[in-house]
Amino acid sequence: MIKLTPPMGWNSWNTFGSEIDEKLIMETADVMAESGLLECGYDYLVIDDCWSLRKRDENYKLVPDPEKFPHGMKYVADYVHSKGLKFGMYSCDGYKTCAGFPSSYQYEFIDAETFASWGVDYLKYDNCYKPVTVPGKLLYHKMGLALENCGRDIMFSACNWGVENVQEWIKETGAHLWRSTGDIHDNWESIKDLTHQQIALQPYNGLGCFNDMDMLVVGMNGKGNVGFGGCTYDEYRTHFALWCLLNSPLMIGCDIRIMTPETKAILMNKELIAINQDPAGRQPCMLMGSKDGPKEQTYVWYKHLEGGDLAIGLFNMSDNPSYPWVGFEQLGVDHTSGKDLKIRDVMNHRDLGIYHDMFSTGLEPHCCKVFRCTLVPADGNYNISFING
Ligand code: GLA
Repeated sequence: MIKLTPPMGWNSWNTFGSEIDEKLIMETADVMAESGLLECGYDYLVIDDCWSLRKRDENYKLVPDPEKFPHGMKYVADYVHSKGLKFGMYSCDGYKTCAGFPSSYQYEFIDAETFASWGVDYLKYDNCYKPVTVPGKLLYHKMGLALENCGRDIMFSACNWGVENVQEWIKETGAHLWRSTGDIHDNWESIKDLTHQQIALQPYNGLGCFNDMDMLVVGMNGKGNVGFGGCTYDEYRTHFALWCLLNSPLMIGCDIRIMTPETKAILMNKELIAINQDPAGRQPCMLMGSKDGPKEQTYVWYKHLEGGDLAIGLFNMSDNPSYPWVGFEQLGVDHTSGKDLKIRDVMNHRDLGIYHDMFSTGLEPHCCKVFRCTLVPADGNYNISFING
């Protein structure tokens, strides 16, 4: 059974591009298992593009590049599984993958069976060199069907970058997640862009098929395949919190063998991860912000969690301080409810006390706050409404 909450794991593309091999994958598996990442929920290790030879074999099967993967993929998958992890691979719906390797168009069923025979648990399915006359919907449908008939549970990660109105039809294809954006880059502009593009797409986000805002760039620090400039740690914190609150898959893209303490603290924030992995999987609701506004807005989203808590995220995407406020009436907790909110800061792991009717707070540029709020009986004891710190 494939889990319904957003997948978490690591993907080779952001840092390594075509520079992948068996040693990297096995070392990464070791670190995932031993660093605490697996314990936090990061359990899929995914090899992206550039793993195969440029030609299929005489039976039309894909062949792992023997220089990169001398023992073949089953060997790598077995090793990954031996660490308690799941194993993911990559293909594409066109004539070639984005990097020009053989792709699955008209080989969907053969390839799904090959992946199953190697022990693959996750397939990222890209959209390059797609035949122009065939609708993407049909191609994703076909691979979805091939995967469901291959004899193994394989999570289907659709990656068509948000084109062809994919949000309207992707759930029909059996996909468990769908890329709702173009490719991420390791800089603040890209974080702002991808977030802005998500605003209109939240109605399509939800349990079993989540909007994929692309792999994380946390901890890349400007290095690697998509490392165009890098972000500050404040920006990485905001990026991670956004991806958590907006239910995006959390696929790490940095070299986890050299994570700094700051990177580890961001990626292993279990309270934020719990908001991402909330079993109800409800889409976030926007309280402040607009798809027609600039990318440099302050956004406030909240999410109604299983059991009745609320997660509230306040994100300052601009270059100036901002002072957002949240009226509890907008959350459905007005005076008729007889409730106040007990608020916990999940970025800093601090209880802030009880608030009545509303709160306001300050946000530094590019920074965010995320609160987990529990409804408690209103008994007249509460804090003043400004949240410091
Ligand atoms: C596309 C995808 C990326 C990555 C590359 C590989 O650009 O969107 O995530 O998989 O292809 O070539």
